[in-house]
Amino acid sequence: MNYARRPGIDSAALRSLVTRENESFLATHRESARLAAGSAAHWLNGVPMHWMRDWNTPHPLFVKRARGVEVEDADGNRYVDFCFGDTGAMFGHSPPAIARALAENGADGITAMLPAERAARVGEKLANLFGLPFWQMTQTATDANRAALRWARAISGRPRILCFDGCYHGTVDETLVRAMPELGDKGGTRPRAGLIGVSHDVSAATDAVPFNDVAALERVLARSRTAAVIAEPVMTNIGMVLPEEGFLRRLRELTRKHGTLLIIDETHTLSTQRGGYSRAADLQPDIWVCGKAIAGGMPCAVFGFTAEVESGMRRVQRDRGGGHSGMGTTLSGNALALACLEASLDELMTPSNYQAMQEAASYLSEGLGRLFAAQSLPWHVGRVGARLEFGFGKPPRNGAESEREAWPELEHAIHLYLLNRGVLLTPFHNMMLCSPLTTSAHADRLLKSLADCLREIGSAS
Ligand SMILES: Cc1ncc(COP(=O)(O)O)c(C=O)c1O
Repeated sequence: MNYARRPGIDSAALRSLVTRENESFLATHRESARLAAGSAAHWLNGVPMHWMRDWNTPHPLFVKRARGVEVEDADGNRYVDFCFGDTGAMFGHSPPAIARALAENGADGITAMLPAERAARVGEKLANLFGLPFWQMTQTATDANRAALRWARAISGRPRILCFDGCYHGTVDETLVRAMPELGDKGGTRPRAGLIGVSHDVSAATDAVPFNDVAALERVLARSRTAAVIAEPVMTNIGMVLPEEGFLRRLRELTRKHGTLLIIDETHTLSTQRGGYSRAADLQPDIWVCGKAIAGGMPCAVFGFTAEVESGMRRVQRDRGGGHSGMGTTLSGNALALACLEASLDELMTPSNYQAMQEAASYLSEGLGRLFAAQSLPWHVGRVGARLEFGFGKPPRNGAESEREAWPELEHAIHLYLLNRGVLLTPFHNMMLCSPLTTSAHADRLLKSLADCLREIGSAS
């Protein structure tokens, strides 16, 4: 661990806090330790999915159940959750509407390779809420983004895509890139560090420019080789980077001007308000993608598109002369996911749920701001609806700035400290979500524990 000094934090105090909190975790998670030992025999890294070890605990924490805002672990410790499965459970864990949809529909056929009766109705509900006439379903947001990019290339006949430096759109090969500022603002990319087992240069057909940089964006689009720009309206995967005034409007104007499709990935910014960020800001994307929480945590994602894109898709299908499309996955659009999607549209994405989420997030955001000011820390809080993030400096303009501000050792220490006091944050950076069931009392619990932590590791300089 790198405990190098930075303003406001005493690195020696930070180091000893981590040692003590690790010991405390071990003492209070003995059943998880036993389960971890058993799991290590059969699971890679001792967990069903290798990134479950990204939680910086001495051994994995095993969950007994999660309901509403609360997670209970195998030792009976209870946590107020602000991670919500990194957004999948943003509307609360196992919402009654989803539990009911699973119970009622699970017995009537889970997957039949045919559309379920409710498909027409759900399509209409998607169109009404998100404002795009045509839809497709996949299992994950990764799959939806991958399909959206393929369609965009096929429709436009252009080879390249553009993303924003520091983005994350799932494990879609061609978005796993970083910009190469050493090339100036030509948009060139290299593969992200650490990729495992890729067989080709994933950066070969991808340009990347800094978020909020209209000039760099236009220079790449002006080459008329870009099939699509794929973007989150607010970057949420490299800390949180908010769009500057007018940036998204220019993004829409420039993509239209240069014949490039705009894919807006709202897998995280569904937190913004009912209908997502695109509806709130009237972004008018050509393709709109969302996964994770869209069906209340049931594996499901959707992408919606305009009538022009749909007619382009039909043209491509007509002209391709048969064969495998290279898009799909067998369980996409299965009946159970469709039932949960409908339950989510009807009962989770309601005005009152969004209002409750907003209120809790606003309360938490203000509390964090007060806390950092009281401790004289030059930190900031970003918020997009129910989603918040604090960072260790001033609000970043782009991914590279946000990355420079990151401080993984401090993040891990804070997360561990909070976890030991019954508060869960996502293991990546400092993201917090407020569900419809999150109250000011839950937020106060986070704020109090964080204040205690900062008092212990804070320094005068
Ligand atoms: C903006 C965004 N898009 C897509 C994804 C991919 O989601 P999934 O891993 O469920 O495929 C993520 C995952 O974090 C994401 O943050």
